[in-house]
Amino acid sequence: MSPLLRTSIAYTVFPSAQAAARALADDLSQRLRQRPELVLGLPTGNTPLGLYRELIERQRAGQLSFARASCFPLDEYLDLPAADPRSFAAWLRQEFLQHVDFAPERIHRLDSTLDANQWRQAAQRYEALIQAAGGIDCMLLGIGRNGHIAFNEPGSARNSRTREVELEATTLHDAAKSFGGLEHVPRRAITMGIGTILESRTIRVLAFGTNKAAIVRQILCSEPQAAWPATWLAGHPDVHCLLDPASAADLPG
Ligand code: GLP
Repeated sequence: MSPLLRTSIAYTVFPSAQAAARALADDLSQRLRQRPELVLGLPTGNTPLGLYRELIERQRAGQLSFARASCFPLDEYLDLPAADPRSFAAWLRQEFLQHVDFAPERIHRLDSTLDANQWRQAAQRYEALIQAAGGIDCMLLGIGRNGHIAFNEPGSARNSRTREVELEATTLHDAAKSFGGLEHVPRRAITMGIGTILESRTIRVLAFGTNKAAIVRQILCSEPQAAWPATWLAGHPDVHCLLDPASAADLPG
């Protein structure tokens, strides 16, 4: 790592996003062989798509199985009807979960229909389910352009737990395309907290492409602070960022 970087977040720049996805899929395959009951934290977004494709291929080739594993999605929009195709639960099912062999009872989910009186209880239940599963072994994360992880927007505290959040302007803007316009993007979401994420045994962060270069530099060159929520990962004993040349382009040489 460059001595100019002040962070303690280790990173590797792979020749391409696909090479990074392959390396992480290899790593997860090995973890699953060692511990078939692996508990995973799963992100949505464009970034993990290559990884999900790699994992699907490996499962089809009989190289790995999720039959005894569990998964916990990181976050969910609120104010969407149940089974709305734009929910993260639907997205994850379509892009990954329906193609692999997780047991349905070990696919957990956050409910997009929770109202203001229900989310606290649902959040506590989610945290309890994570505890009951033995904690998250491997947390997979992307980074938002404003430095968020899951939906922990700027200002999120290091010890925050699963909770309701108001989405920030950059997040709403980036989601507008999938919702057919800014005015249709839900303003609220439910997300695992930073504290919840930091309790995972292993954390792997993926960031690819030119539009992540500025935030990758900010995260890897800043002291931990609430303004850039991903910087809170710096205190974790086993965190690693997987980058491609485009997302690493602004890092000091
Ligand atoms: C959303 C999700 C995050 C994800 C981010 C980046 O905001 N809540 O978990 O990391 O988008 O998305 P993308 O990978 O499409 O850039």
